Amino acid sequence: MWSPPPVTETPGHGHMQILITGVKGRLGSQLLTKLSVDGHTVSGFDIDTTDITNLDSVTKSFASAQPELVLHCAALTAVDYCAEHPDDALRVNGLGTQNIAIACQRHGAALLYISTNEVFNGQGNRPYLEYDLPAPINSYGYSKWVGEQIVRDLLPHFYLVRTSWLFAHGGNNFIQTILRLAGEGRALRVVTNEVSTPTYTEDLVGAIARLITTGRYGIYHLVNEGYASRYAFAQYALEQAGYDPALVKPITLAEYQRASRPPEYSVLRNFAAAQIGITLRPWQAAVDAFLAAEPALKNHD
Ligand SMILES: NC(=O)c1ccc[n+]([C@@H]2O[C@H](COP(=O)([O-])OP(=O)(O)OC[C@H]3O[C@@H](n4cnc5c(N)ncnc54)[C@H](OP(=O)(O)O)[C@@H]3O)[C@@H](O)[C@H]2O)c1
Repeated sequence: MWSPPPVTETPGHGHMQILITGVKGRLGSQLLTKLSVDGHTVSGFDIDTTDITNLDSVTKSFASAQPELVLHCAALTAVDYCAEHPDDALRVNGLGTQNIAIACQRHGAALLYISTNEVFNGQGNRPYLEYDLPAPINSYGYSKWVGEQIVRDLLPHFYLVRTSWLFAHGGNNFIQTILRLAGEGRALRVVTNEVSTPTYTEDLVGAIARLITTGRYGIYHLVNEGYASRYAFAQYALEQAGYDPALVKPITLAEYQRASRPPEYSVLRNFAAAQIGITLRPWQAAVDAFLAAEPALKNHD
């Protein structure tokens, strides 16, 4: 009598051989540090040594790293550049991801692909679940969604992690820009009708470090809890850094001329990871922690 094959669960992993793409970026660099501290064998590359749009170059990097798991962070992330150069966005975020997925296939490696709130159209009236259908409205979001589909089509073992509005130490981010402009006494005009969740890379990295040990492949939304408009986010950062929050004036997206049009309401709900105990703290607490570690950003007047 035929009986179904036993369900083989991929066990949770202890030590892993991990390769990080985009390792010089905001997220990749922090993942390298955290996962090395956690005891994994971690290597990484960035565009200066390996261009993900070149399969031969990707193949060589995989041959020397021999990864079991690849954390794919490399991307064109400048949304306005992507709007002005949509083919470049597709080449890097779409076909570059295809090259990474093909190399994963050849090595039998699992892939963790980082995606974005910008795959959604922003017309929803509740936070987006992991299972909602993407419908990107700009080139960046479209190219990242192409990457998502390639990963899902080509690989049996993947984590697809969407996140939003990252702020990290050591790179340019929204908080640093707002506080720098405030410190220079410059006028601040920030939009009220773009709403999502600010997410601290330290918290995201901690959540990813836990997720990759579970072997529970699937789609995840890893963001700090809660949501804010860009305007409310700016006001909160100003206040916590010792500036007058009234320094920032509200405007609408229609008044803010830029090449890329963001989704208006792209709050991600962490449903799936929360079921296995992986949650991130509220975004306000994350901003507080970020500022505590960046005393130079505070108003010293
Ligand atoms: N930042 C956010 O708010 C945010 C929000 C949601 C999702 N994400 C996603 O999270 C991931 C990491 O974002 P991040 O903020 O850390 O980005 P990032 O700081 O821009 O880092 C991306 C890295 O990839 C490199 N890169 C670009 N093109 C490449 C290529 N052809 N080959 C190899 N490397 C290449 C970049 O080099 P160059 O700097 O020289 O271009 C950069 O070092 C991305 O997949 C992004 O889509 C980011």
